[in-house]
Amino acid sequence: MTPDESPLRAAPSFFEVVLHQRACREFSADPVSDGDLHQILEAATHAPSAMNHQPWVFVVVREEAARTALTTIMRELWEGGGREQTEGRVPDSLLHEVDLGFTKTLPEAPLLIVVAGDTGTAPLEQLGWSVYPAVQNLLLAANALGLGSALTTMGIFRGAEVQDITGLPPELVPMAIVPIGWPAVRLGPPRRIPVAQKVHRERYGNPW
Ligand SMILES: Cc1cc2nc3c(=O)[nH]c(=O)nc-3n(C[C@H](O)[C@H](O)[C@H](O)COP(=O)(O)O)c2cc1C
Repeated sequence: MTPDESPLRAAPSFFEVVLHQRACREFSADPVSDGDLHQILEAATHAPSAMNHQPWVFVVVREEAARTALTTIMRELWEGGGREQTEGRVPDSLLHEVDLGFTKTLPEAPLLIVVAGDTGTAPLEQLGWSVYPAVQNLLLAANALGLGSALTTMGIFRGAEVQDITGLPPELVPMAIVPIGWPAVRLGPPRRIPVAQKVHRERYGNPW
């Protein structure tokens, strides 16, 4: 699908966007404009955060050598234990999607956004509360523009190397790497547990 063919290009409704959000791991070679990226990053930076500290930092990586270095780290972590730890814990279809991403398709994404959290504002174990809402905004904004994206965390297990590649100083800790690009595949609806199985009325155990 090219940017112009994207069916979501004409301002989809919020619920169209949020109910069709999927992890996309296969991308076409079409470039993503700075204008689209600006919209996506503006949405990300409008997320709520503890004490409004806004402890997120985004490094947009388009340069091929840096993308290759980052996706190589992700693949090595996956092949060096990630896949083994995931096997048997997720459906085969998901294992296959993640495996394809790490071993083949993520390096084809035209850009990666490295998301870091600022440990100068909060201890690392509390940063996720503030950083991941921004990442969710980012994913939804990308989807609203018809772009594919995926929240990945595999690379952060070698965070020091990610800092090295992206120039992040020690206090800015990598917390996600998000590939973004025009989807090369049409993803079906998200596989989600129905509301009725997740929601209780007034007290746990009372059906919704
Ligand atoms: C905290 C978090 C970490 C994730 N890490 C990875 C990852 O390292 N690699 C990957 O391919 N997908 C990753 N995902 C994407 C999930 O696999 C995906 O959101 C989930 O399977 C639902 O699939 P769907 O988006 O296709 O509906 C992550 C998602 C979250 C929320």
